[in-house]
Amino acid sequence: KANTVAKTLGGKKYFGSATDNPELTDTAYVATLSDNTLFGQITPGNSMKWDATEPSRGVFTFAGGDAVAALAKKNGQLLRGHNCVWYNQLASWVTAGNFNATTLTSILQTHCGTVVSHYAGQMYSWDVVNEPFNDDGTVRSFVFSDALGLTSYVTTALVAARAADPAAKLYINDYNIDSAGAKATAMLNLVKSLKTAGTPIDGVGIQGHLIVGEVPSKAALIANYQAFTALGIEIAITELDIRMTLPETPALLAQQQTDYNTVISACKAVVGCVGVTIWDYTDKYSWIPGVFTGQGAALPWDDNLVRKPAYDGIIAGFTN
Ligand code: G3I
Repeated sequence: KANTVAKTLGGKKYFGSATDNPELTDTAYVATLSDNTLFGQITPGNSMKWDATEPSRGVFTFAGGDAVAALAKKNGQLLRGHNCVWYNQLASWVTAGNFNATTLTSILQTHCGTVVSHYAGQMYSWDVVNEPFNDDGTVRSFVFSDALGLTSYVTTALVAARAADPAAKLYINDYNIDSAGAKATAMLNLVKSLKTAGTPIDGVGIQGHLIVGEVPSKAALIANYQAFTALGIEIAITELDIRMTLPETPALLAQQQTDYNTVISACKAVVGCVGVTIWDYTDKYSWIPGVFTGQGAALPWDDNLVRKPAYDGIIAGFTN
């Protein structure tokens, strides 16, 4: 079973999955998700985001996030919090409010402080900052970066999160930082500057939304993962899925098996890579078809909750 293999042969790593509240009524789905020999960790896909947790200023709603946290606790699974501050799924009152920089700093402190404090003691880690960069390594424009600048808003969020839950590992999380490139360099530079300033930062989340047949080589992944861990932080693969252009064919499924193996074995090869989370485990609930027309089948379990060759790639990756 994948999590058992990750813990043992994989070298004390976890294997986990994202989930989302609407799916928790699907009993067959929940039964597999709840097997902690398969999944040692879960991440809420939507219910801890800003629009879900503070839909109006100062009004916090935790019911959705609490349901996922309770499931993890019941199952004996680690929990990753996702996320404090992101340009997307940000409550509209924040963007529409035309607040000045001082007020925005206070809004961010209150949001991260309140949400992280609510789950204090329950989280292995938090994606405090999500997707701060554009693909070319420039700072992504949104209300907090525009008004405060990257360093200021990131620092405010991290400091508030640390104060709210000193035990949680604090992460910055992004996609397209799997191997060397402008965006990975921007993230490395941000972490270096935070470290120099003494700002709390414990990890970088490498999301890993990848494409079958286009996954970087194992050597390229390892070199990049090590560039991050050399800064004195841990890394995790936080949102792995490897999509294909539909329909599925035996050749594509075989390539996908190889690709999962490549990513997992690269994590295994790096001591500071603490675990791998897939962005839900079944194609039934994957976000891919809704966003990338004609693509999908990105996860190791199919629409009928049956394992695909990709699952064997995961086991092989943690084993070899
Ligand atoms: O909540 C509304 C609901 O009220 C409405 O009836 C329904 C109709 O479309 O939409 C619901 O909102 C959806 C939301 O998920 C909650 O289910 C949004 O339309 C939908 O766009 C949103 O998608 C999420 C996406 O983030 C938003 O960017 C995906 O489920 C979620 O898996 C995805 O996750 C992100 C990570 O947070 C960050 N990294 C990339 C990853 C994939 O995009």
